[in-house]
Amino acid sequence: MESELLKRFDSLLERKHYSSRSEAIRDLIRRDLVSEEWTDPDADVIGTITIVYEHHEHELASALADLQHRHHSQVVCSTHVHLDEHNCLEVIIVRGASQRVRSISDSLIATKGVKHGGLVCSTTGRDVM
Ligand code: NI
Repeated sequence: MESELLKRFDSLLERKHYSSRSEAIRDLIRRDLVSEEWTDPDADVIGTITIVYEHHEHELASALADLQHRHHSQVVCSTHVHLDEHNCLEVIIVRGASQRVRSISDSLIATKGVKHGGLVCSTTGRDVM
């Protein structure tokens, strides 16, 4: 590896609190394997959907709950935090075929009144650990 590239890599590892190059390289490889896993639409994956939404928005909370009930086989569980008088944060753990999980996440995030959202694509750990 070029010494300039290695220097930049080492400085990145320090900022990210890695204790060794090999641990960092293992994580990079796993991250690639996880993203590879998610490219197969039928792969059994697991992830978390985080959404922040306006609590007062008319019928939004029930629309979000309806959506989760419709996909009860994929929704493992959810946690709700009342952020302040107006805002709620919800974290939903979803598992199933990657295509369905992505579609549930897209629908939740696109629901009117949802201010911010994201899907963290994780792994069941079976194939990449
Ligand atoms: Ni709330």
